[in-house]
Amino acid sequence: MIKIAPSVLSADFGALGEEIAKVEPEADLLHVDVMDGHFVPNLTIGPLVVEAIHRRTRLPLDVHLMIQNPERYVSAFARAGATYLTVHAEVCPHLHRTIQQIREAGVKPGVALNPSTSLHTVEEILDQVELILILSVNPGFGGQSFIPFVLKKIEEMARRLRRVEPRPELEVDGGIKIENCRVVAGAGATILVAGSAIFGASDPRSAIVKMREQVA
Ligand code: DX5
Ligand code: ZN
Repeated sequence: MIKIAPSVLSADFGALGEEIAKVEPEADLLHVDVMDGHFVPNLTIGPLVVEAIHRRTRLPLDVHLMIQNPERYVSAFARAGATYLTVHAEVCPHLHRTIQQIREAGVKPGVALNPSTSLHTVEEILDQVELILILSVNPGFGGQSFIPFVLKKIEEMARRLRRVEPRPELEVDGGIKIENCRVVAGAGATILVAGSAIFGASDPRSAIVKMREQVA
């Protein structure tokens, strides 16, 4: 069963509680994008808002850290209620240590890779993580188009993860729409993140239902 994780980045931040309530009955996880204006050009939210979201929903929080020096903020996001905490391999010279730190904080560790980052970067730590996140856009903004070459990368990662026990989730993030979710799921994704395709729809809940029909 494919899991669907709406990304709150495309929600109306002035009415975040109501926006989350719209997707809650159908979503499996809530994807929360944290950006620092350094690793990516955009600035978004921090632990305070994650904590506020946590108080409003029973959905597990899938926190995607697009920040430099993520190890400085692990305990803050753990306290804020993150279920998964995903760091970017590109900014973690001591990735193994950072993963251990996340686990020790009682959170499920994930590692994300930008479109141009090789799968080799995470080869040695596949059995240490709960989730691998493949970016299918260059991170920083919602509403971008899926980069086609990433599809092969998803297929290859799925192949490698089949040999790992217990098998981490394979999450894909960026440019996922009702029209292309079937092919992304077919490539081996187990969690689909979608921001604009869900919160940009007139009925976010039915957008999830339509996505689920596509991947069933
Ligand atoms: C991109 C973020 C995504 C974003 C996806 O930097 O990591 O989670 O919200 O948005 P869509 O689905 O609109 O491409
Ligand atoms: Zn994300």
